[in-house]
Amino acid sequence: MTVDDTTQVTQATQVTQVTHVIEGFREVYGRAPDGVWAAPGRVNLIGEHTDYNDGFVLPFALPHTTLAAVAHREDGLLRLHSGSPDVPGAVVEVRLAELAPGREAGRTDGWADYPAGVMWALREAGHPVGGADLHFASTVPHGAGLSSSAALEVATALALNEVHGLDIPPRELAVLCRHAENAYVGAPTGIMDQMASACCTAGHALFLDTRDFSQRQVPFDLAAHGLRLLVVDTRVTHAHSSGEYGQRRAGCEAGAASLGVTALRDVPYAELPSALDRLDDAEIRRLVRHVVTENERVKRTIALLADTSSVRAIGPILTESHASLRDDFRVSCAELDLVVDTALAAGALGARMTGGGFGGSAIVLADESAVRPLTAALDKAFTTAGLPAPRVFPALPSRGAHRMA
Ligand code: GLA
Repeated sequence: MTVDDTTQVTQATQVTQVTHVIEGFREVYGRAPDGVWAAPGRVNLIGEHTDYNDGFVLPFALPHTTLAAVAHREDGLLRLHSGSPDVPGAVVEVRLAELAPGREAGRTDGWADYPAGVMWALREAGHPVGGADLHFASTVPHGAGLSSSAALEVATALALNEVHGLDIPPRELAVLCRHAENAYVGAPTGIMDQMASACCTAGHALFLDTRDFSQRQVPFDLAAHGLRLLVVDTRVTHAHSSGEYGQRRAGCEAGAASLGVTALRDVPYAELPSALDRLDDAEIRRLVRHVVTENERVKRTIALLADTSSVRAIGPILTESHASLRDDFRVSCAELDLVVDTALAAGALGARMTGGGFGGSAIVLADESAVRPLTAALDKAFTTAGLPAPRVFPALPSRGAHRMA
């Protein structure tokens, strides 16, 4: 198998996508949109399950985006339509006055809850949004742990922000999107995905402090060092993932409470041994150890990336992160472990699961010359294990959310 070229997103394909999404909008709503906005999916280089512990993360944006063609309305109606093959179907129509979180009125219990939740969050925060027609198309792989939900939310938020002249800065939009996901959709996620989609810049990873949202763009040009970062989508999503996520989060909060700190971010790495001694529960000890060591790994990665001669040295840190997520945080799965083990045996410099876990994608850092043998080794390992071949593509740090037309 070769690297999957169908997942490459070039500027030319983006232009075609914009034309398509405008045509799609016209077909569905019988008029022209006010504009088209794009928001990307992301991979997280390192800093996993740290964002709801006020910790550090280092994601970057993918070239894969969700496009929203949008026209404003002022009659209190929200209409949503998706042109994605994953979720074809009728226009979802909701009255703004009926939008309400949880199981209440206005809920559609599907993809439309994400954009509807963003509309709800904007209005709840007091922004004057009178309605809108939206039509979406996406190249972000769905269910691959690459933040297709955040891309959908952020594309919606950016579009509504402009068509209603709200002038909300990107960081604040990201916070509103997370609120939509937490309170409206009901998924207890952290801020990383929305902030990455809203704030990343091309050629950089985003070093984000999830406590105060301070951020720094970190140059991340692997090609200049003859390196590649591959995304390996295992194509599996384990059903229990959202419940497990909530349990890990609750365990971290219990750990912080036992240690008398606001969040696990407040446990310094140097004090980890004494903190662990103070915890009776073995499960909570493991969760705490992961979060504290993972924050330290983000800092070590940042330090190595600051020096162009040491970029390769981030490889083993990625692998350490995977071991910690597998053994201490326990959010990996057989397919993700297979990617990491196979990649390392085939000469990768480092590899880890990325995102929430329990399926989805892993990332692999490798010399450019190792990409083909490595991809072949992954293909073979999956076939031998009786699994469908994973989807592999190189990840290029790309632009965050922006207006396309
Ligand atoms: C998911 C969540 C993020 C983050 C990661 C794990 O992607 O949406 O907020 O917690 O898992 O790092």
